[in-house]
Amino acid sequence: MAQVDFGNVTNIDVLNLKSLEKRAEAVIGRGEFGYISEGSDDGYTKWRNTNAFKDVHMLPRVLQNVENPDQSTTFMGEKLASPLMTAPIAGNSLAHTSGEIGLAKGAKEAGIMMSQSTFASKTIAETAAVSDGAPYMFQLYMPKDWGYCTYLLDEAKNAGARAIILTADSTLGGYRELDVMNHYHLKGKIANLAGYNTGESGAGAGSLFKESMQKLNLGTIEKLADYSGLPIIVKGIQDARDADLAIQHGASGIYVSNHGGRQLDGEPGSIECLPAIAKVVDHRVPIIFDGGVQRGTHVLKALALGADLIGVGRPFSYGLALGGWEGVKAVADHLKMEIYIAMQLTGCQTIEDVKKMHVSTDFQI
Ligand SMILES: Cc1cc2nc3c(=O)[nH]c(=O)nc-3n(C[C@H](O)[C@H](O)[C@H](O)COP(=O)(O)O)c2cc1C
Repeated sequence: MAQVDFGNVTNIDVLNLKSLEKRAEAVIGRGEFGYISEGSDDGYTKWRNTNAFKDVHMLPRVLQNVENPDQSTTFMGEKLASPLMTAPIAGNSLAHTSGEIGLAKGAKEAGIMMSQSTFASKTIAETAAVSDGAPYMFQLYMPKDWGYCTYLLDEAKNAGARAIILTADSTLGGYRELDVMNHYHLKGKIANLAGYNTGESGAGAGSLFKESMQKLNLGTIEKLADYSGLPIIVKGIQDARDADLAIQHGASGIYVSNHGGRQLDGEPGSIECLPAIAKVVDHRVPIIFDGGVQRGTHVLKALALGADLIGVGRPFSYGLALGGWEGVKAVADHLKMEIYIAMQLTGCQTIEDVKKMHVSTDFQI
């Protein structure tokens, strides 16, 4: 691998994931921090994402002969040290100069799944070179221009992406008031445009929503799967009916997410949508879950409610901001430590045991 510049790298102490936000605010520019941290409208759904975990209660087992629990798992054939993934985030260089290559290195060192956004600050090839065989997925914002779409799919395939995550909940950007107040538009170059001759090389991502497909439909899944030959995972599913239809139309995975509460405000917490979706999916395809995960116990709750892989968004951005790739690894390591404790205390030796754990939910969807 060619020499890679990871920028300033430093190990960070992590007390908990929540406390990273304030620390990151001190090192990220005001506009950038607003863009990363905020939710849309009144921030209700963003708030609810984390807070709804309180309404999920775990019933621990005792006398289960558990020692040194093993949180390694397999997702779509990939062995992972923990059921964690860096959720796709646009423009990671807003947090740290290393952007997605720092994220990829941190994820690789932690043995977790890495995913990269279409609107990344580094190209697919640059990022995958750092992943260098470690499990990696590419997130697609479906462009209107099919030529650009196939360019992205080819790049992702050549780079060894295990799957394409088709984001379906962002056919328009949510209304985010901090961006308005800070006069902030996602700046910088969209690295993945630079290699494609649209004449828009280096355009800001804000303008790209005009270029992204709004009339997405179920046929889009088959079209992407047919062209790429890669598994298509549909991201942004909250309604069980959509999960069922997506699978019927060729989805190889369902990604339960409300975009970290950045899109439609007024949705429930993402965890509240998971049980009904898991019931309908019924193990036909794997499920990724994200939204508000800040604790090892949140990871266990999501697994017990039917998820197979847990995405974490902002906390990894904050880790990246604070320590480059080592900060990302520190966040993953901290979460792993909390998962380890929670597994021992719930009497779960393996992730399969966690998935069988009894949980009660006070919400109903
Ligand atoms: C700054 C920021 C940028 C994001 N960009 C993307 C993106 O480009 N593509 C995408 O599918 N999701 C994007 N998301 C949503 C995340 O993938 C994920 O769903 C969300 O962050 C999970 O919530 P959490 O931050 O509470 O963990 C973004 C989220 C944030 C915070």
